[in-house]
Amino acid sequence: MKGIILAGGSGTRLHPITLAVSKQLIPVYDKPMIYYPLSVLMFAGIKDILIISTPHDLPKFQSLLGDGSQFGCSFQYKEQPSPDGLAQSFILGKEFIGSDKVCMVLGDNIFHSAGFTGMLKSCIDPDGGIIFARQVQDPERSGVVEFDDNMNVISIEEKPTQPKSSYIIPGLYFCDNEVVEIAENIKPSARNELEITDVHNAYLNKKKLKVVVLPRGSAWYDCGTFDSLKRASNYIEAMETDHNLLVGSPEESAWRNGFINDEQLENIATPLLKSGYGQRLLNLLKKK
Ligand code: DAU
Repeated sequence: MKGIILAGGSGTRLHPITLAVSKQLIPVYDKPMIYYPLSVLMFAGIKDILIISTPHDLPKFQSLLGDGSQFGCSFQYKEQPSPDGLAQSFILGKEFIGSDKVCMVLGDNIFHSAGFTGMLKSCIDPDGGIIFARQVQDPERSGVVEFDDNMNVISIEEKPTQPKSSYIIPGLYFCDNEVVEIAENIKPSARNELEITDVHNAYLNKKKLKVVVLPRGSAWYDCGTFDSLKRASNYIEAMETDHNLLVGSPEESAWRNGFINDEQLENIATPLLKSGYGQRLLNLLKKK
């Protein structure tokens, strides 16, 4: 399976922070935001990853993440000339995806829960699409999924003014290879974007959409606003300092999946000791 991180857009809801810096490069506690979705793909076991961003920001992602070999992975990069919608990522990634299945994650989405790695690994061979659902207090800000009493999906809508449920669809999507053709055939919405919810609806119409409800207590943040960014940072800080758990670390994902060995982890950690991040990586070796 291939992985795509969509990390473009203009971050207007975070201005002036994002006037000169890409949203997905700003810190969430002790790491750049993109580390979190990157580690999600890597925890799923995905090594071939395409990072999509604006022509202006893409070189900065390249200088942060390189070719991925330090993590035992392969990273490629692709420009999205303008923010024409989330589903465009599958068209931009067509060549990269080739004949494989693909997992797309939004560069500003953060996930954390007990057992999350196992759940990710169970999704890597989808027949159709696999998406997730989570209850929130403000569903009108996201894609919303409505269920019947038996948790069968009835409808999926993008940012409805009158949400039919409190379940939203976070930005993590596992798809079979048909997603490229589906994306190529959807029409731009009223706001002139290729909507990811139209991809979900295409799979739903084919009866090939699986929706996994995230377990109670799962953390999910869309770091698109000052408030959610602060809450995400506070959550990560609490996990790392109070619970002694590293969250969203691609180095840890690489090491736990056997993409890199103990010595390689130590080599990555040593130059990062001054900030404390390197020590957190070395602590992984001590806890073995
Ligand atoms: O966070 C989950 C939600 O993400 C889903 O529930 C929605 O169905 C989905 O449409 C999306 O809603 P957002 O309001 O968060 O979408 P936004 O336009 O803010 O874009 C999400 C991220 O993707 C953001 O970091 C910017 C980036 N982006 C967006 C577009 C439209 C791109 O890189 N390229 C794009 O063309």
